[in-house]
Amino acid sequence: APARCPLTITVNGQQHTMDIEAWVTLLDLLRERMGLTGTKKGCDHGQCGACTVLVDGRRINSCLTLAVMNDGREVTTIEGLAQGDTLHPMQQAFVEHDAFQCGYCTPGQICSAIGLVNEGRAKCSAEVRELMSGNICRCGAYPQILRAVSQVAGVPADSEN
Ligand code: FES
Ligand code: FES
Repeated sequence: APARCPLTITVNGQQHTMDIEAWVTLLDLLRERMGLTGTKKGCDHGQCGACTVLVDGRRINSCLTLAVMNDGREVTTIEGLAQGDTLHPMQQAFVEHDAFQCGYCTPGQICSAIGLVNEGRAKCSAEVRELMSGNICRCGAYPQILRAVSQVAGVPADSEN
């Protein structure tokens, strides 16, 4: 039998304890073992940001971290953001600004944007754009994404965008 490691992890407020193969990524744990398919697998190589989730409030590419490396941590995925019927303010901003087309990149964009706001570093929309550059949108919804994130980050939206 393959070697398994003990893992205790909290996902969207619910604690899970399991034994898991050491090579399973956090992304595959979420999607394949927990059925949380809102988090997308784009490249599986850290190049697209579609798999972005929050771990202890910080945004990470879940395809690049092993599940067992997140022992004891708290993970939030797109499924865990709304409070009942109330969207998270970042989700609401994406809706208001039409910041998605096909929607494939959107869960990662929103988690990344929340992480960005938590970091508190972006002081203008150019910095928001730079700090969101790890999240690729094949539909090119960047101007709308930038406006949504800038609004929640509390920085002025650049009129050029
Ligand atoms: Fe993780 Fe693309 S799937 S960065
Ligand atoms: Fe389609 Fe971004 S909305 S990839």
